[in-house]
Amino acid sequence: MKIIVTGGTGYIGSHTVVELLKAGFEVAIIDNLYNSEESVLDRIETITSKRPAFEAIDLCDNEASLSFFRKHQDAVAVIHFAALKAVGESVKKAIWYYENNLGSTFNLFKCMNDVGIPSIIFSSSATIYGKYPELPVKENSPKFPTSSPYGSSKQMIKTILKDTIIGENEIKNGISLRYFNPIGAHESALIGEAPKGIPNNLLPYITQTAIGLRDSLSVFGADYDTPDGTAVRDYIHVVDLAHAHVKALQRLVNEENETDYEVFNIGAGKGYSVLQVIEAFERMNDVKVNYKISPRRPGDEPMFYADSTLAQEKLNWQAELNIDEMVASAWKWEAYYREHLQK
Ligand code: NAD
Ligand code: WQD
Repeated sequence: MKIIVTGGTGYIGSHTVVELLKAGFEVAIIDNLYNSEESVLDRIETITSKRPAFEAIDLCDNEASLSFFRKHQDAVAVIHFAALKAVGESVKKAIWYYENNLGSTFNLFKCMNDVGIPSIIFSSSATIYGKYPELPVKENSPKFPTSSPYGSSKQMIKTILKDTIIGENEIKNGISLRYFNPIGAHESALIGEAPKGIPNNLLPYITQTAIGLRDSLSVFGADYDTPDGTAVRDYIHVVDLAHAHVKALQRLVNEENETDYEVFNIGAGKGYSVLQVIEAFERMNDVKVNYKISPRRPGDEPMFYADSTLAQEKLNWQAELNIDEMVASAWKWEAYYREHLQK
């Protein structure tokens, strides 16, 4: 069975492509390489001994996208990762974020409709809860306005996707996966997260500080009402997250879904503070991370972690890899990337 993966050369996309190929699916990737590199295809091939089909196309380009979809109209589903994802940048560049994230999605839906692909898995995010109403966060927890155009674009796509599925067209069913904080890398260290410029997220900032690219990590706030005063998040290994996509896909292609549109939280269900993550990183990798306590980052919540029991019950999925494995794999990838891949 063929699956089209948008954004498939990116961080989560590349890990998911590996697990799809391992599970026996055929994969065709469409990505404009804005935030990824074509060489990831070689590394996917090294890991799996299979090479996914790929074209460098901007999903906002209607004509080029449709021609790609026509070539792959035998696909049974799409996994839609392609998006711009930097929360802070989206506040400064709102038009661009809305144009890219919404425009590419409209176009994708039109292509799917034109060639008749019935199923979609959508990359949603914990950010769509806006702020935490109750802990752990459940799929039906109240939603609040998000603090960024990035988050709003994910909320809007949820509405558009639901309406599309209800409407009369070829897109018949979908699953949104709400990821919490994906970190870590494939055990081979051949693929991982390689943010362009100064990282926004905690783990790449830690690995870049440890390797000497950054002087010091700023720990944003140590005066939260949490056990050690630093903010708590639900970190999830990217390979566990990739497995969740395979399970969600199997649910749709095997027609096991209970409604046409389903939503699952994908988190480990456990919270770790910033200082706990640093401690695990230093202990597992035997390396020091320079850090200083800094003011809180505007918009940050003190604590956020998922209730993922629905995914456990319905997808038969749960996180398997722990925080030690997450930070160890992230460091192994950083070392490989700097030695072999950085230009
Ligand atoms: P990423 O930037 O590594 O991957 C996204 C890919 O999409 C990139 O390869 C990029 O080149 C491509 N892309 C962007 N716009 C495109 C367009 N118009 N046409 C074609 N390709 C385009 O990001 P990621 O971390 O792998 O995230 C994947 C998805 O998961 C995104 O939708 C993101 O919003 C969502 N998500 C990520 C996180 C996280 O912390 N990484 C958390 C929750 C949700
Ligand atoms: C984690 C913790 C920071 C950097 C974001 C998006 C969310 C989703 C996942 C896409 C927080 C602290 C961070 C640093 C720090 N992405 N921190 N120093 O903000 O929980 O979630 O990524 O959908 O939508 O908002 O992740 O990695 O930025 O931060 O102290 O240099 O680390 O304050 O407590 P966040 P993060």
